[in-house]
Formats: sequence, C-alpha cells, structure tokens
Amino acid sequence: MFTRIARRAFSTSKVNPYKVTILGAGGGIGQPLSLLLKLNHKVTDLRLYDLKGAPGVAADLSHIPTNSKVSGFTPDNEGLSKALKDADVVLIPAGVPRKPGMTRDDLFSINASIVRDLAKAAGDAAPNANILVISNPVNSTVPIVAETLKKKGVYNPHKLFGVTTLDSIRAARFISEVEGTDPTTEHVNVVGGHSGITIVPLISQTKYKTMDKTTREALIHRIQFGGDEVVKAKDGAGSATLSMAQAGATFANAVLSGLGGERDVIASSYVDSPLYKSEGVEFFASPVTLGPDGISKVHPVGDISSEEEQLLEKAKETLKKNITKGFAFIDKE
Ligand code: NAI
Repeated sequence: MFTRIARRAFSTSKVNPYKVTILGAGGGIGQPLSLLLKLNHKVTDLRLYDLKGAPGVAADLSHIPTNSKVSGFTPDNEGLSKALKDADVVLIPAGVPRKPGMTRDDLFSINASIVRDLAKAAGDAAPNANILVISNPVNSTVPIVAETLKKKGVYNPHKLFGVTTLDSIRAARFISEVEGTDPTTEHVNVVGGHSGITIVPLISQTKYKTMDKTTREALIHRIQFGGDEVVKAKDGAGSATLSMAQAGATFANAVLSGLGGERDVIASSYVDSPLYKSEGVEFFASPVTLGPDGISKVHPVGDISSEEEQLLEKAKETLKKNITKGFAFIDKE
C-alpha cells in the first residue's frame, strides 16, 4: 500500500535535483534528521558526514526506496570536502549537546571551534550553499559562521540561517495544550533568538489575546525553557533530538521549497537582520520569506503588546552579548 501511494506521489510531484549535506549526521539529531531528509522528495543527493558513524547511517538509509542517493563520509580521504562539494543546502547539527544544569552558552567553548571549522570547509567546497546552523549556542554560532565566510569572501547574508523552528513547534504544541485545541492548526510567531529569555513568543498575535496573565506568563516561560524539560528527562543523555530533527527537516523543506520557486514560503529563522541593526543587534529571529536565492524578505515583528515590548528589550540586550561573543571568537584568530 505504502509503495503504491509513494509511487504515485513521485510521478506527479516535480523532483528538483537538490544536494543536501548533513554535518554531524551520526549524532542524536543527525540520524533522525537524515531519515526525514531521505523521505523528502526534493532531495536527490543526500551526503552524511560525521567524525564516525556516517557511512553506517548512509548504508542503512540507502535501502529506503525514495528518489535519492545517500553517501556517508568520515574525515578520511578528504571526506568533508567531498560531502560538501557544491551542496545546495548544508545542515550543521555537529557538536556537543547540553547536560542537566547547563545553559546553551556553556557549550560555546567546544562548539564554537567545531562550527568555525565546518564553516571554513563549507566556504571552500560549497560557497553558494544555504547553511542551516543547528549547533548551539545558535545565538553565537551563526555570527561565527558569518565571520568565517566573510574572511573567505563568500558570505551571503541571504543564505545563512540559525534554526529556531523548534521554538515555533514547541509554542504551537504548548498553546494547544493550554487551550485544548488541535496542535496542527496552531501557530505562534516566535522572535528574538534561540535560548532562554531571547526566545520571545508573541501570544498577543494569536487568537488567545485574552488569556489570563498567570496562564500566559507560564506559557511564555515554558516556550522559553522547554528544552530544559527534555534535558532533565534525558538525565545526562543529551537534549532534544527527535523533535529537533522534525524541526530541522521542516525548516530545510521550507528552504528547498523556496529554492524550487514555490511562492510565499515563510518561516521563522535567526538571520543577519536589518530589523534592529541600528541598535547593535546584527542577528535576529523573525519570519523570513524564502526564495530561489535564499532569504528574499525579512519580516518585522509586527504589532506587539507592551509586555512583549519589555521581553523584546531584554532579549536584545542578551542577543547583543551573544553576537559579540561569536564575533570576538573569530576576530582573535
Ligand atoms: P550528539 O552528541 O548526539 O551528536 C553530535 C554529533 O556531532 C556527534 O555524532 C559527533 O560525532 C558530531 N561531531 C562533533 N564534532 C564534529 C565535527 N568536527 N565534524 C563532524 N561531526 C562532528 O548531539 P545532538 O543531540 O545531536 O546535538 C547536536 C547539537 O545540536 C548540540 O550543539 C545541541 O545543543 C544542538 N541543538 C540545537 C537545537 C536547536 O533548536 N537549534 C535543539 C537541540 C539541540
């Protein structure tokens, strides 16, 4: 039954020849993310890279009868540059995840150099790629990638994304639990950044404007710190991987839809943003329109409540520090 439906889907849907590379594909996020992208018909050439384990994941996924070739690479034999060569989309979930009691910023000392080195390789082998950064702290790793690519003279601000989709999907899920609604129909605009108080859900823009203050504050706090629930429950074994893979695959699909010329593809992401640059906030998450050349428009946050204004001000203060930290890491090289 599945085969018949899948065949029909292939014969009627337009297949675009996209090369997608996952760096860190053997990890907790990397493996399910690889599976979900193996199931995405827009991907025809899926390259999986990790320090170890990626060839096994690739061999495993290669038996799934979808329309893509899957290859696995390790650092041997210039595996990284082979995995990246002329990729259209590069996803980076490489790095260490949080343990209980850690903030995302605590990961900086290890993940900053991992992300920098992978960005260097991407700049050389795939200078036109759309780069989707998942590795935390996203608020700082995205500026690190930008500065690294600038040094190489290949930085395109329209093609660099910090993946904040998990905040959006958590917000949809959590608000549906509060309101007793179908989560698949919920949407909450989440802006700012991707950690704690930099995550600003705009409840005033939903149909639940009249939610009482206590419920709203608890909901906002849960969206901001939802990741901690998973870190605590996994008890030392890492952070969100399966929901993150779903979020990453959803955002990658939006980027691919834009590349393929679909219209009105809008998704939130942490990007090089004009919105608050004059205030020193170089990167900011808000909805962006995705097109054949990456970001075609960065949307403003829109009308917000005075309470949300205050959250936004606090978020911007922290973001500035996180961004400066990322820039400084590359400057001191
Ligand atoms: P994990 O430890 O399970 O997997 C990470 C993988 O990266 C490992 O397989 C490791 O071998 C690989 N790796 C490390 N250095 C590498 C390098 N130089 N080149 C290639 N691969 C390398 O960790 P997990 O759970 O998959 O998390 C990965 C990252 O994603 C963490 O930084 C985590 O904080 C972040 N994350 C981001 C989220 C977001 O919303 N943006 C949500 C959840 C996690």
